[in-house]
Amino acid sequence: MRHLLDIYHLNREDIEEILLLAENLREILHRPIPKVPTLRGKSVLLLFYEPSTRTKFSFEKACKVLSADTLSFSAKGSSLEKGETLLDTVKNLRALGVDLLVIRHSFSGTPHFLANHLDIPVVNAGDGTHEHPTQALLDLLTVKDKLGTLEGLKVAIVGDIKHSRVAHSDIFGFQKMGSRVFVAGPAYLLPEDREIPLYELRKGYFRVCLNLREALEDADVVIALRVQKERHGDPLIPSYNEYAEFFGLSPRILEWIKEGALLMHPGPINWGVELSHEMERYPFQVILDQVENGVAVRMAVLLRLLSGE
Ligand code: NCD
Repeated sequence: MRHLLDIYHLNREDIEEILLLAENLREILHRPIPKVPTLRGKSVLLLFYEPSTRTKFSFEKACKVLSADTLSFSAKGSSLEKGETLLDTVKNLRALGVDLLVIRHSFSGTPHFLANHLDIPVVNAGDGTHEHPTQALLDLLTVKDKLGTLEGLKVAIVGDIKHSRVAHSDIFGFQKMGSRVFVAGPAYLLPEDREIPLYELRKGYFRVCLNLREALEDADVVIALRVQKERHGDPLIPSYNEYAEFFGLSPRILEWIKEGALLMHPGPINWGVELSHEMERYPFQVILDQVENGVAVRMAVLLRLLSGE
């Protein structure tokens, strides 16, 4: 593994190794002094061209725990405003001494493009509507922790599947680990028929449902997604109230899902739209566990890419 660009190209063994490493590293976070010298002397460049709270902060925290230096870059106020290209910017920052690049960008494929032109590892922290591999890894770790396995589960992903990079990485990640993935949402937010073969990695392991109940019935895991309005161009949703009524997750879903099914969300949440306020008190809601696991997973990814092991 030279880069982490997407889940699609990882194999099951890669995923298992990262999860195992993350499980081992997580213990460091609970020490009185949560810091080890493992990546001392390494510099990580965090290049976020889109808003981020959890992802950026947890990469930064992961670097600090492993003693790597971080350099943060803000497009505003940089020479990008004078017309410098992204590639030139990154090459110059590389020349200033950087060992790994973490990038989030609104154009799908940006991390792959940069990886082709740089001699350092590149980690995709979310590229357009394409993928968000570290989010899927932390989702897998959270489910493995709570349910003990990823094999044979039914995972329902609800909402804006078409524009959500989290959905895409989760669809690939859960199938690779032996879970079946059912997606549901209004037709205009679902993959089109011709796209379905791209998502179905294993025959019978991926299903698109127009009906919420079909996706949720007997689910072990339910993942709610934010509607990605910033990626819609022309507004696609006529009414958020109506969306909440038909596809929002509220206590009515408890009749359909399995007892003890996990409820997840990558954040940021629009309460009252994709999740009703009551669901905050649902006892198997693991949204903050996901955030905590984000640090451990990102530590594992940094360590694998920077220590050469
Ligand atoms: C997601 C993202 O940016 O793709 N957030 C995250 O990284 N946790 C999901 C979203 O913005 O809806």
